[in-house]
Amino acid sequence: IVELAAELKANLKQFPNFPQEGILFEDFLPIFTKPDLFKKLVRAFQLHVGEDAKVDYVIGLESRGFLFGPALALALNAGFVPVRKPGKLPGPTYNVEFKKEYGSDAFEIQKDVIPAGSRVLIVDDILATGGSAFGAGELAKLTGAKIVEYLFVMELDFLKGRDRLDAPVFTLFGGQTEKLQ
Ligand code: PRP
Ligand code: MG
Repeated sequence: IVELAAELKANLKQFPNFPQEGILFEDFLPIFTKPDLFKKLVRAFQLHVGEDAKVDYVIGLESRGFLFGPALALALNAGFVPVRKPGKLPGPTYNVEFKKEYGSDAFEIQKDVIPAGSRVLIVDDILATGGSAFGAGELAKLTGAKIVEYLFVMELDFLKGRDRLDAPVFTLFGGQTEKLQ
């Protein structure tokens, strides 16, 4: 996993001062342009999760959690369930509001898709304030699922997002992205 993560990390592209002044944005989209890197991304998470985890569903967060959540689900022989921004999912949904760095936001998940007692992973590209992941976690709990772990590619560890989450948190690249000086 360490070697896979190092190779993948070397393929990030840096954009200073995006989306805000003082933030060094690490773009992971280059990984998806090369099938061998994309496979290694999925493989790294698959190795971390292991077979004993017995995952029933991977829950991916709109939008960037959709990029690799379904691929990871296939690799784990699990189902994929999206958490989406409000008003996008048909039928009955659970809705949760959560606080982000500035203001609040909301997420939804379809009811009756994840059976109570299911073992789920929650995946997204980056853990920042943890608001999005917290919201997705609350939705997962409303379905009666057990959160096995939260998985992220990257983490802005100075925002302490993991402190808001009450299941194990794994970040493939570790907390490595700093504010620009
Ligand atoms: C970004 C990122 C995470 C979230 C992390 O998504 O992809 O989902 O923010 O921030 P948080 O830990 O403070 O909640 P964004 O809301 O920009 O939407 P996108 O994925 O649709 O681009
Ligand atoms: Mg996102």
